[in-house]
Amino acid sequence: MSSVKIAPSILAADFARLGEEVRAVADAGADYIHVDVMDGHFVPNLTIGPGVVKAIRSATDLPFDVHLMISPVDPYIDEFINAGANILTVHPEAGPHLHRTMQRIHAGGAKAGAALNPATPVSALAPIIDDLDLALVMSVNPGFGGQKFIDSQLRKIEELRRLIDQTGKDILLEVDGGIDPATAPKVISAGATVLVAGSAVFKGAAADYRANIDALRGGQ
Ligand code: DX5
Ligand code: ZN
Repeated sequence: MSSVKIAPSILAADFARLGEEVRAVADAGADYIHVDVMDGHFVPNLTIGPGVVKAIRSATDLPFDVHLMISPVDPYIDEFINAGANILTVHPEAGPHLHRTMQRIHAGGAKAGAALNPATPVSALAPIIDDLDLALVMSVNPGFGGQKFIDSQLRKIEELRRLIDQTGKDILLEVDGGIDPATAPKVISAGATVLVAGSAVFKGAAADYRANIDALRGGQ
């Protein structure tokens, strides 16, 4: 029985049929829907906003795991929660007051996550680890799907695993970027509990999505 959760990133879906694509991965056994929000400023790409989150909310009951790669982030928190986000993950570099941002997300009734860019150390989260519901290790530089997994992040996942275990809390350890059937077993054994995958899930047609998702669970 698999314990690792899979969060398909809809960045790799067919945007012209987004609602259908969300339903298809939900039917194929996804655990979360990962939504990548980019502002063309914090990262060099523009994607989707709260209007699209709202539009696809009725496609599934699965939790929406919304990854905000935007700066500033605080002015948009309530809008994303109202649109149907269940988890909001932000980057420490996106604002000067990460702990306040976590408080704002919690005050809005959502779960709060913080993301580590490849060059950002685990120590950036250590002082506030108890306040997180999710900690995310970026295994590519944020901005685009389809990039190559950065191997050096495996050590960081192990370090973050130890930090989370010390809290005794049920904090999700998510890994995002370049996850495929070859890299998934490595991040799972390093301690990840949620895998984000775009290209590896939305490969082929909807009929292939279940096999694509199962292949990431590492045969567990
Ligand atoms: C990158 C995004 C990822 C991306 C993953 O900035 O945060 O979620 O969509 O795509 P793949 O799985 O193709 O690397
Ligand atoms: Zn993401």
